[in-house]
Amino acid sequence: LSLKQIVPRAEIVEVEGIPLTKPICSMWDQVWKFKARPDDLLIATYAKAGTTWTQEIVDMIQQNGDVEKCKRATTYRRHPFLEWSIQEPSTAYYSGLELAEAMPSPRTIKTHLPVQLVPPSFWEQNCKIIYVARNAKDNLVSYYHFHRMNKGMPDPGTWEEFVEKFMSGKVLWGSWYDHVKGWWKAKDKHRILYLFYEDMKENPKQEILKILKFLEKDVNQEVLNKILHNTSFEIMKENPMTNYTKEFQGIMDHSVSPFMRKGVVGDWKNYFTVAQNKKFDEDYKKKMADTSLVFRTEL
Ligand code: A3P
Repeated sequence: LSLKQIVPRAEIVEVEGIPLTKPICSMWDQVWKFKARPDDLLIATYAKAGTTWTQEIVDMIQQNGDVEKCKRATTYRRHPFLEWSIQEPSTAYYSGLELAEAMPSPRTIKTHLPVQLVPPSFWEQNCKIIYVARNAKDNLVSYYHFHRMNKGMPDPGTWEEFVEKFMSGKVLWGSWYDHVKGWWKAKDKHRILYLFYEDMKENPKQEILKILKFLEKDVNQEVLNKILHNTSFEIMKENPMTNYTKEFQGIMDHSVSPFMRKGVVGDWKNYFTVAQNKKFDEDYKKKMADTSLVFRTEL
Protein backbone atom coordinates (compact mmCIF):
# COMPACT_ATOMS: atom_id res chain seq x y z
CA LEU A 1 0.00 0.00 0.00
CA SER A 2 1.29 3.45 -0.83
CA LEU A 3 0.68 6.40 1.47
CA LYS A 4 -1.77 7.78 -1.04
CA GLN A 5 -4.00 4.77 -0.57
CA ILE A 6 -4.04 4.74 3.23
CA VAL A 7 -4.83 8.40 3.84
CA PRO A 8 -8.52 8.47 4.72
CA ARG A 9 -10.89 10.98 3.15
CA ALA A 10 -11.85 14.08 5.15
CA GLU A 11 -14.99 13.99 7.25
CA ILE A 12 -17.43 16.89 7.26
CA VAL A 13 -18.94 18.57 10.31
CA GLU A 14 -21.04 21.73 10.34
CA VAL A 15 -20.23 25.05 12.02
CA GLU A 16 -23.24 27.39 12.09
CA GLY A 17 -24.74 25.31 9.29
CA ILE A 18 -21.62 25.50 7.11
CA PRO A 19 -19.94 22.19 6.26
CA LEU A 20 -16.27 22.29 7.27
CA THR A 21 -13.68 19.60 7.93
CA LYS A 22 -13.38 17.95 11.31
CA PRO A 23 -10.02 19.57 12.15
CA ILE A 24 -11.44 23.02 11.33
CA CYS A 25 -14.46 22.38 13.56
CA SER A 26 -12.34 21.22 16.46
CA MET A 27 -10.26 24.42 16.19
CA TRP A 28 -13.24 26.66 15.56
CA ASP A 29 -13.17 28.60 18.85
CA GLN A 30 -9.59 29.62 18.17
CA VAL A 31 -10.34 30.55 14.57
CA TRP A 32 -13.24 32.73 15.70
CA LYS A 33 -11.06 34.44 18.31
CA PHE A 34 -8.25 35.08 15.83
CA LYS A 35 -6.64 38.48 16.41
CA ALA A 36 -6.42 40.32 13.11
CA ARG A 37 -4.01 43.25 12.94
CA PRO A 38 -4.96 46.51 11.18
CA ASP A 39 -2.38 45.99 8.42
CA ASP A 40 -3.47 42.41 7.65
CA LEU A 41 -4.67 41.83 4.11
CA LEU A 42 -7.25 39.09 3.72
CA ILE A 43 -7.72 37.24 0.43
CA ALA A 44 -11.13 35.61 0.57
CA THR A 45 -12.66 33.29 -2.02
CA TYR A 46 -14.94 30.36 -2.48
CA ALA A 47 -12.58 27.42 -3.02
CA LYS A 48 -11.29 27.14 -6.61
CA ALA A 49 -12.25 30.68 -7.63
CA GLY A 50 -8.67 31.79 -8.32
CA THR A 51 -7.20 32.14 -4.82
CA THR A 52 -3.69 30.99 -5.64
CA TRP A 53 -3.54 33.22 -8.70
CA THR A 54 -4.60 36.26 -6.68
CA GLN A 55 -2.16 35.36 -3.91
CA GLU A 56 0.70 35.31 -6.42
CA ILE A 57 -0.32 38.67 -7.90
CA VAL A 58 -0.50 40.19 -4.41
CA ASP A 59 2.86 38.77 -3.38
CA MET A 60 4.49 39.95 -6.62
CA ILE A 61 3.14 43.44 -5.86
CA GLN A 62 4.31 43.33 -2.27
CA GLN A 63 7.77 42.12 -3.34
CA ASN A 64 7.90 44.83 -6.01
CA GLY A 65 8.20 42.26 -8.80
CA ASP A 66 11.13 40.38 -7.25
CA VAL A 67 10.57 36.84 -8.55
CA GLU A 68 13.22 35.30 -6.30
CA LYS A 69 11.63 36.77 -3.18
CA CYS A 70 8.29 35.30 -4.24
CA LYS A 71 10.01 31.92 -4.37
CA ARG A 72 11.02 32.16 -0.69
CA ALA A 73 8.31 29.63 0.21
CA THR A 74 5.21 27.91 -1.12
CA THR A 75 1.92 29.77 -1.41
CA TYR A 76 0.71 27.95 1.73
CA ARG A 77 3.65 29.20 3.79
CA ARG A 78 3.73 32.76 2.47
CA HIS A 79 0.05 33.35 3.15
CA PRO A 80 -1.40 31.42 6.09
CA PHE A 81 -4.66 29.69 5.23
CA LEU A 82 -6.55 30.95 8.28
CA GLU A 83 -9.01 28.17 9.12
CA TRP A 84 -7.18 25.24 7.56
CA SER A 85 -5.48 22.63 9.64
CA ILE A 86 -4.58 19.11 8.76
CA GLN A 87 -2.79 16.47 10.73
CA GLU A 88 -2.12 13.26 8.91
CA PRO A 89 0.62 11.21 10.55
CA SER A 90 3.72 11.30 8.32
CA THR A 91 1.91 12.84 5.34
CA ALA A 92 0.98 16.39 6.31
CA TYR A 93 0.87 18.83 9.17
CA TYR A 94 -0.49 22.31 8.69
CA SER A 95 -2.06 24.90 10.94
CA GLY A 96 -2.99 28.19 9.34
CA LEU A 97 -3.60 29.71 12.77
CA GLU A 98 -0.17 28.81 14.10
CA LEU A 99 1.47 30.08 10.97
CA ALA A 100 -0.46 33.36 11.06
CA GLU A 101 0.21 33.97 14.74
CA ALA A 102 3.94 33.48 14.27
CA MET A 103 4.14 35.69 11.20
CA PRO A 104 5.49 39.26 11.44
CA SER A 105 3.34 42.06 10.01
CA PRO A 106 2.27 42.97 7.44
CA ARG A 107 0.56 39.64 6.85
CA THR A 108 -1.48 38.42 3.92
CA ILE A 109 -3.95 35.76 4.98
CA LYS A 110 -6.12 33.44 2.91
CA THR A 111 -9.60 32.23 3.79
CA HIS A 112 -12.51 30.40 2.16
CA LEU A 113 -14.92 31.29 4.94
CA PRO A 114 -18.34 32.72 4.06
CA VAL A 115 -18.59 36.32 5.20
CA GLN A 116 -20.60 35.56 8.36
CA LEU A 117 -17.89 33.22 9.65
CA VAL A 118 -14.99 35.64 9.24
CA PRO A 119 -13.47 36.28 12.68
CA PRO A 120 -14.91 39.59 14.01
CA SER A 121 -11.46 41.13 14.57
CA PHE A 122 -11.06 41.57 10.79
CA TRP A 123 -14.05 43.92 10.81
CA GLU A 124 -13.02 45.59 14.06
CA GLN A 125 -9.55 46.31 12.65
CA ASN A 126 -11.02 47.47 9.32
CA CYS A 127 -8.64 45.19 7.40
CA LYS A 128 -8.48 45.37 3.63
CA ILE A 129 -10.00 42.36 1.92
CA ILE A 130 -9.74 41.14 -1.65
CA TYR A 131 -12.58 38.82 -2.64
CA VAL A 132 -12.43 36.84 -5.88
CA ALA A 133 -15.49 35.20 -7.37
CA ARG A 134 -15.75 32.78 -10.29
CA ASN A 135 -18.83 31.75 -12.24
CA ALA A 136 -20.66 28.84 -10.64
CA LYS A 137 -20.23 26.32 -13.45
CA ASP A 138 -16.48 26.65 -13.86
CA ASN A 139 -16.09 26.89 -10.11
CA LEU A 140 -18.02 23.63 -9.76
CA VAL A 141 -15.95 21.80 -12.40
CA SER A 142 -12.72 22.95 -10.80
CA TYR A 143 -13.97 21.94 -7.34
CA TYR A 144 -14.97 18.51 -8.62
CA HIS A 145 -11.49 17.80 -9.95
CA PHE A 146 -9.92 19.20 -6.80
CA HIS A 147 -11.96 16.75 -4.71
CA ARG A 148 -10.77 13.91 -6.92
CA MET A 149 -7.09 14.72 -6.48
CA ASN A 150 -7.09 15.88 -2.84
CA LYS A 151 -7.68 13.48 0.06
CA GLY A 152 -8.06 16.50 2.35
CA MET A 153 -11.49 16.83 0.72
CA PRO A 154 -14.41 14.45 1.09
CA ASP A 155 -15.02 11.95 -1.70
CA PRO A 156 -16.84 13.85 -4.50
CA GLY A 157 -18.80 10.82 -5.67
CA THR A 158 -19.71 10.77 -9.35
CA TRP A 159 -19.93 13.93 -11.44
CA GLU A 160 -23.73 13.75 -11.26
CA GLU A 161 -23.64 13.40 -7.50
CA PHE A 162 -21.20 16.25 -7.12
CA VAL A 163 -23.36 18.60 -9.19
CA GLU A 164 -26.26 17.88 -6.83
CA LYS A 165 -24.09 18.43 -3.76
CA PHE A 166 -22.84 21.73 -5.13
CA MET A 167 -26.35 22.93 -5.93
CA SER A 168 -27.61 22.07 -2.46
CA GLY A 169 -24.56 23.60 -0.76
CA LYS A 170 -23.58 20.29 0.81
CA VAL A 171 -19.91 20.86 0.06
CA LEU A 172 -16.99 22.20 2.05
CA TRP A 173 -17.42 25.89 2.88
CA GLY A 174 -21.08 25.63 2.03
CA SER A 175 -23.24 27.10 -0.69
CA TRP A 176 -21.41 28.87 -3.53
CA TYR A 177 -24.55 30.97 -4.05
CA ASP A 178 -24.65 32.25 -0.46
CA HIS A 179 -20.89 32.77 -0.45
CA VAL A 180 -20.70 35.08 -3.48
CA LYS A 181 -23.91 36.91 -2.49
CA GLY A 182 -22.87 37.38 1.12
CA TRP A 183 -19.52 38.90 0.21
CA TRP A 184 -21.15 41.02 -2.51
CA LYS A 185 -23.40 42.60 0.10
CA ALA A 186 -20.54 43.06 2.55
CA LYS A 187 -18.52 45.10 0.07
CA ASP A 188 -20.85 48.07 0.52
CA LYS A 189 -20.00 48.30 4.21
CA HIS A 190 -16.36 47.31 4.36
CA ARG A 191 -13.03 47.77 2.60
CA ILE A 192 -13.50 44.96 0.11
CA LEU A 193 -12.22 44.79 -3.46
CA TYR A 194 -14.56 42.38 -5.25
CA LEU A 195 -12.94 40.81 -8.31
CA PHE A 196 -14.01 38.25 -10.90
CA TYR A 197 -11.93 35.38 -12.28
CA GLU A 198 -13.41 36.03 -15.73
CA ASP A 199 -12.23 39.67 -15.69
CA MET A 200 -8.77 38.53 -14.61
CA LYS A 201 -8.63 36.14 -17.57
CA GLU A 202 -9.93 38.69 -20.03
CA ASN A 203 -7.77 41.58 -18.95
CA PRO A 204 -5.23 40.66 -16.29
CA LYS A 205 -3.43 43.97 -16.56
CA GLN A 206 -6.54 45.93 -15.74
CA GLU A 207 -7.34 43.74 -12.73
CA ILE A 208 -3.74 43.93 -11.46
CA LEU A 209 -4.02 47.73 -11.68
CA LYS A 210 -7.19 47.55 -9.55
CA ILE A 211 -5.31 45.53 -6.94
CA LEU A 212 -2.40 48.00 -7.02
CA LYS A 213 -4.74 50.89 -6.43
CA PHE A 214 -6.55 49.08 -3.61
CA LEU A 215 -3.22 48.31 -1.93
CA GLU A 216 -2.09 51.91 -2.50
CA LYS A 217 0.99 50.68 -4.32
CA ASP A 218 2.72 51.89 -7.43
CA VAL A 219 4.96 49.97 -9.80
CA ASN A 220 6.64 51.00 -13.04
CA GLN A 221 5.75 49.52 -16.43
CA GLU A 222 8.62 47.04 -16.31
CA VAL A 223 7.55 45.63 -12.94
CA LEU A 224 3.93 45.52 -14.06
CA ASN A 225 4.93 43.43 -17.08
CA LYS A 226 6.98 41.15 -14.85
CA ILE A 227 3.98 40.61 -12.57
CA LEU A 228 1.78 39.87 -15.58
CA HIS A 229 4.26 37.35 -16.96
CA ASN A 230 5.00 35.53 -13.72
CA THR A 231 1.38 35.20 -12.69
CA SER A 232 0.26 33.71 -16.00
CA PHE A 233 -1.19 30.21 -15.82
CA GLU A 234 1.67 28.75 -17.87
CA ILE A 235 4.39 30.10 -15.58
CA MET A 236 2.53 29.32 -12.34
CA LYS A 237 1.90 25.77 -13.51
CA GLU A 238 5.65 25.18 -13.78
CA ASN A 239 6.54 27.03 -10.57
CA PRO A 240 6.93 24.54 -7.68
CA MET A 241 6.24 27.35 -5.19
CA THR A 242 2.78 27.94 -6.67
CA ASN A 243 1.68 24.63 -8.21
CA TYR A 244 1.31 22.67 -4.95
CA THR A 245 3.71 19.89 -5.95
CA LYS A 246 6.04 20.66 -3.02
CA GLU A 247 3.39 20.43 -0.34
CA PHE A 248 0.87 17.78 0.72
CA GLN A 249 2.44 15.08 -1.42
CA GLY A 250 0.65 12.37 0.54
CA ILE A 251 -2.70 14.09 0.13
CA MET A 252 -2.75 15.65 -3.31
CA ASP A 253 -2.34 13.39 -6.30
CA HIS A 254 -1.51 15.49 -9.35
CA SER A 255 -1.60 12.41 -11.58
CA VAL A 256 -5.37 12.24 -10.94
CA SER A 257 -5.78 15.94 -11.80
CA PRO A 258 -3.10 18.63 -11.47
CA PHE A 259 -3.72 21.56 -9.13
CA MET A 260 -2.93 23.86 -12.06
CA ARG A 261 -5.51 22.10 -14.18
CA LYS A 262 -6.72 24.25 -17.11
CA GLY A 263 -7.09 27.81 -15.92
CA VAL A 264 -9.74 28.84 -18.43
CA VAL A 265 -13.26 30.24 -18.61
CA GLY A 266 -15.92 27.93 -20.09
CA ASP A 267 -14.49 24.49 -19.35
CA TRP A 268 -17.91 23.65 -17.86
CA LYS A 269 -19.15 23.06 -21.41
CA ASN A 270 -17.06 19.90 -21.49
CA TYR A 271 -18.88 18.49 -18.45
CA PHE A 272 -22.51 19.60 -18.24
CA THR A 273 -24.98 17.62 -20.28
CA VAL A 274 -27.77 19.62 -21.94
CA ALA A 275 -30.25 18.37 -19.33
CA GLN A 276 -27.92 19.12 -16.44
CA ASN A 277 -27.28 22.58 -17.78
CA LYS A 278 -30.98 23.32 -18.06
CA LYS A 279 -31.67 22.14 -14.52
CA PHE A 280 -28.68 24.05 -13.20
CA ASP A 281 -29.75 27.28 -14.93
CA GLU A 282 -33.31 27.08 -13.62
CA ASP A 283 -32.12 26.49 -10.07
CA TYR A 284 -29.49 29.23 -10.45
CA LYS A 285 -32.11 31.79 -11.42
CA LYS A 286 -34.05 31.09 -8.25
CA LYS A 287 -31.03 31.12 -5.97
CA MET A 288 -29.64 34.32 -7.52
CA ALA A 289 -32.93 36.22 -7.86
CA ASP A 290 -32.19 38.37 -4.82
CA THR A 291 -28.86 39.82 -5.94
CA SER A 292 -27.52 42.31 -8.45
CA LEU A 293 -24.47 40.11 -8.90
CA VAL A 294 -23.88 39.03 -12.52
CA PHE A 295 -21.40 36.44 -13.75
CA ARG A 296 -20.04 35.62 -17.18
CA THR A 297 -19.76 31.93 -18.03
CA GLU A 298 -17.84 32.52 -21.24
CA LEU A 299 -15.58 35.18 -22.69
P1 A3P B 1 -9.13 25.00 -12.96
O1 A3P B 1 -9.32 23.79 -12.10
O2 A3P B 1 -10.37 25.40 -13.67
O3 A3P B 1 -7.97 24.87 -13.88
P2 A3P B 1 -7.83 28.17 -6.23
O4 A3P B 1 -6.46 28.73 -6.27
O5 A3P B 1 -8.84 29.08 -5.67
O6 A3P B 1 -7.82 26.81 -5.63
O7 A3P B 1 -8.29 28.01 -7.75
C1 A3P B 1 -7.72 27.06 -8.60
C2 A3P B 1 -8.17 27.33 -10.00
O8 A3P B 1 -7.51 28.52 -10.49
C3 A3P B 1 -7.79 26.21 -10.97
O9 A3P B 1 -8.79 26.23 -11.98
C4 A3P B 1 -6.45 26.70 -11.46
O10 A3P B 1 -6.02 26.11 -12.65
C5 A3P B 1 -6.75 28.19 -11.65
N1 A3P B 1 -5.56 29.01 -11.72
C6 A3P B 1 -4.48 29.00 -10.90
N2 A3P B 1 -3.56 29.88 -11.31
C7 A3P B 1 -4.07 30.49 -12.40
C8 A3P B 1 -3.59 31.50 -13.30
N3 A3P B 1 -2.40 32.07 -13.12
N4 A3P B 1 -4.39 31.88 -14.32
C9 A3P B 1 -5.59 31.30 -14.50
N5 A3P B 1 -6.10 30.35 -13.71
C10 A3P B 1 -5.35 29.94 -12.66
